[in-house]
Amino acid sequence: MASDQSLFHHSLLALFLIGPPTFISCLFLQAPYGKHRRPGWGPTIYPPLAWFLMESPTLWLTLLIFPYGLHSSNPKSLVLISPFLFHYFHRTCIYPLRLHSNTARRNAAGAGFPVVVAVMGFGFNVLNAYLQARWVSQYKDYEGDGWFWWRFFGGLVVFWGGMAVNMWADRVLVGLKKEGGGYKVPRGGWFELVSCPNYLGEMVEWLGWAVMTWSWAGLGFFLYTCANLVPRARANHRWYLEKFGEDYPKARKVIIPFLY
Ligand SMILES: NC(=O)c1ccc[n+]([C@@H]2O[C@H](COP(=O)([O-])OP(=O)(O)OC[C@H]3O[C@@H](n4cnc5c(N)ncnc54)[C@H](OP(=O)(O)O)[C@@H]3O)[C@@H](O)[C@H]2O)c1
Repeated sequence: MASDQSLFHHSLLALFLIGPPTFISCLFLQAPYGKHRRPGWGPTIYPPLAWFLMESPTLWLTLLIFPYGLHSSNPKSLVLISPFLFHYFHRTCIYPLRLHSNTARRNAAGAGFPVVVAVMGFGFNVLNAYLQARWVSQYKDYEGDGWFWWRFFGGLVVFWGGMAVNMWADRVLVGLKKEGGGYKVPRGGWFELVSCPNYLGEMVEWLGWAVMTWSWAGLGFFLYTCANLVPRARANHRWYLEKFGEDYPKARKVIIPFLY
């Protein structure tokens, strides 16, 4: 038990420590997939398969670890882990299937996802799934938390709002991809406010999760998501401006409506 506590605390520390270097390095160097793909990053795999494999620990590891927790059969812990599993069922299974069925020419040259990026994503998901699952099923104090349901439902509203925006925006983008003919300017809804509503929605989701779990693990995940996605949104915004110039809507912000 002591060794698990030590593993948990060291993993938590690692989650907080990798945020700042991720943020700084992502300001200068974009993960080489999607709009920022470029040669020189080694072998690649089919993107839907990459998403499925690298996100999969969030399902299998969570389901493997969860039953070993003290609170694994407490209804509160089961309710609490559900949004996490729901998000990752969508990201691991539904999203790759949608990518697959909407990819016009599956083996288009240069369309691969670098194995090295997928391995890094996989590693992060192992760390994060361990922390979130272990917090919810083992370390959270349910008896002493008189605000549990307030935080749960308050956070859940934020989480659902973020997930709705994330899923809607991903669907629009993948739909544009299906049309073929290269990248286009996405239009309508949240795209009139920011260049990357899918990333905005993702950040809002994990903010809701941090409130729901009321934990350092949840907060660390939210901050890491921001450290990863804000610089990528900035790079995407600049990429759109360079590619589409005058045709790109001037009022559109990077990721935070009206502000940034
Ligand atoms: N929690 C985290 O830290 C984290 C990290 C990364 C991603 N994610 C989530 O994973 C999801 C996917 O991320 P992503 O970085 O792959 O998103 P993305 O770059 O916006 O791409 C999403 C899909 O839409 C296509 N696409 C994007 N912009 C397009 C345009 N203007 N015209 C036509 N097609 C376009 C992309 O094709 P191409 O692949 O050909 O560009 C890709 O298939 C998002 O929901 C994101 O929030 C989460």
